[in-house]
Amino acid sequence: MAIREIKKLGDPVLRLVSEKVDKIDRNILKIIKDMIDTINSDEYNAVGLAAPQIGISKRIIVIKWDKTEVFINPEIKVLDNEEEEIQEGCLSVYSIACMMKRPKKISVKALSPRNEELDFKAEGMLARIFLHEVDHLDGKLFIDYLDSKKKREIMLKVSEINSETSI
Ligand code: NI
Repeated sequence: MAIREIKKLGDPVLRLVSEKVDKIDRNILKIIKDMIDTINSDEYNAVGLAAPQIGISKRIIVIKWDKTEVFINPEIKVLDNEEEEIQEGCLSVYSIACMMKRPKKISVKALSPRNEELDFKAEGMLARIFLHEVDHLDGKLFIDYLDSKKKREIMLKVSEINSETSI
């Protein structure tokens, strides 16, 4: 069991475009196991985790919905123009939450850890989690979508948290 440290805003790994997984080998399965251990740990209360958040720039995400599931090389297609505003937060942004508009309905293509091809639709909160996690694989964070005022508020909170933890 290996619970990995979550990389935080400012870490360059969060800004890289992650590499596609070519082959699901032992190394990839080990990364997946660590991601599952991390998302299921009591320390972190998250519904989604992307590999860059544990410092690995590969296209793997884990989502905790009905159960904990792994998606490799996920690709998202937005199905229509309908958007929804939902509160969103991120372990890498100190779990600070913010209301955000994103597409409501998507389709997802991905591989399972057993190399099965997955193809399904998602909407609402589940779609939101996929959109957030796949953004991580493209080096994007949810704060990138906020207007400058909201972004400043968040950065202020982040600096407050940082000054508390550095004492
Ligand atoms: Ni996140």
